[in-house]
Amino acid sequence: MQISIKLDSNCDQSLQNQIFESIREQILSGQLKSGMLMPSTRILNEQLGVSRNTIILAYDRLIAEGYLYSQKTVGTFVNPNLPEDSLMLVDKKSRKTVKRLKDNEKARLKRYPVAFQGRNQALFNPHRDKLNIDFWVGRPDPQSFPISTWRQLTLKKLSHSGPSMTEYHDPAGIYELRKAIADHLRPARGISCNPEQIIIVNGIQEALNVVSRIFIKQGTPVVMECPCYQGAAYVLESYGAELHPVPVDDDGLDVNQLPDKKTALAYVTPSHQYPLGATLPLERRIRLLEWARSTGAYIIEDDYDSDFRHQGSPLTAVAGQDKHGYVIYMGTFSKSIGAALRMGYLVLPEELVDTARTAKALMDNGHAWLDQSVMMEFITSGAYLKHLRCIRRTYLNRRNCLIQELKNNFSDVKLSGLEGGMHLVWHLPESLPEATKVQQIAQDAGIGIYSLPAAAAYDFGKKGYKERTILFGYSSTTEEQIRDGISRLKLAL
Ligand SMILES: Cc1ncc(COP(=O)(O)O)c(C=O)c1O
Repeated sequence: MQISIKLDSNCDQSLQNQIFESIREQILSGQLKSGMLMPSTRILNEQLGVSRNTIILAYDRLIAEGYLYSQKTVGTFVNPNLPEDSLMLVDKKSRKTVKRLKDNEKARLKRYPVAFQGRNQALFNPHRDKLNIDFWVGRPDPQSFPISTWRQLTLKKLSHSGPSMTEYHDPAGIYELRKAIADHLRPARGISCNPEQIIIVNGIQEALNVVSRIFIKQGTPVVMECPCYQGAAYVLESYGAELHPVPVDDDGLDVNQLPDKKTALAYVTPSHQYPLGATLPLERRIRLLEWARSTGAYIIEDDYDSDFRHQGSPLTAVAGQDKHGYVIYMGTFSKSIGAALRMGYLVLPEELVDTARTAKALMDNGHAWLDQSVMMEFITSGAYLKHLRCIRRTYLNRRNCLIQELKNNFSDVKLSGLEGGMHLVWHLPESLPEATKVQQIAQDAGIGIYSLPAAAAYDFGKKGYKERTILFGYSSTTEEQIRDGISRLKLAL
């Protein structure tokens, strides 16, 4: 959550005073509602770019003067019991209080504070309408969506649906789809599981919510890759997890830096580390599993784009190497078919299945029957494998084209994350400015390329990752667009 605070570096007031005044004024004018949860000092620190200490001091003063109050481990709230006299509307221009609160505003003061605190990642590029060519990360090719098969299967399922459209179904998902996924995962990812271990979810996003619901209370320790997928970090922190970043190097998660202490979960992307693209080597996978055994942690394996392996033989998923039930595996159809389907799956160690089914039922009583039923037929008919074969070829050609164009147009090209997935990483040469500047110059020229923060990556404020790294998604741009885009990028830079 963000609040609007404008800071003026030329103003003669200190930054701390400006923050204090701005929040105080917004409380008095009713803009910040009584009982409202305030953003954490860490969020304000990221938003305003001023030191966290300055924000803490401003908050302390607001608490001391009674405008805010703090509830241990929950957060800081706007005081719902401010004396009536102080709750005046403030005229923005004259900064004078002009009238008392209305009755309905007084009634609001009695309400219980909102307990939820969270932030969500940007799912769309806000500038996309201005772009001619967009290398947005992680989107499948729109032209390749299997529209006619999908239409046929939908009509077929509807005409034989009987009571299926009016009944509730198993919240874990329809059995035939779970079986189809189990049968697919065995050869594709080396995972041997039975359909009962699978729960159909609204994408990995919901899978993360189900697992968080099961494990996380305020302060529960969770290991994260640094940098990591912002979407995962935001879900976990919204449940109160205490996130422990472990650095990522050229081979992915640095397993030697995993903490010794008891940890509930470790969220990892071993197939194609998000965002930097490394594939975790076998030794590190084994070491990660050993670490899970020794600390009792569950590993969350987010296998978001593993359907695309462009070089080297496919690696078995960590869940396929796990013989003791330490891995919670998450898969999605967002990358292989389309993000708008909102469909993915969780593969759970047996002892977690019942709890996860209950958590899923509490969330939404199960995924839509028609979508599941169409997906089941799409997989069992062989259309899914055919579709995968086709887009794998398309993405491989686009990846090769992008690599070639970057090498043709720029000198000293250092790339990573090439082995698989739908995006690659360009480590900027010395001759070019920092990533955010490069992104801006490209954007002004109508080309969308992305620095880590703009591409849903999160680095816990650590230096060294985001400054010189640019991500290129290549799955939803044609080869012609890639050639055109890179030569325009060269001109602009
Ligand atoms: C690493 C990673 N995990 C998960 C997801 C989201 O998957 P879903 O659409 O299934 O929620 C994304 C989306 O970009 C991603 O990059």
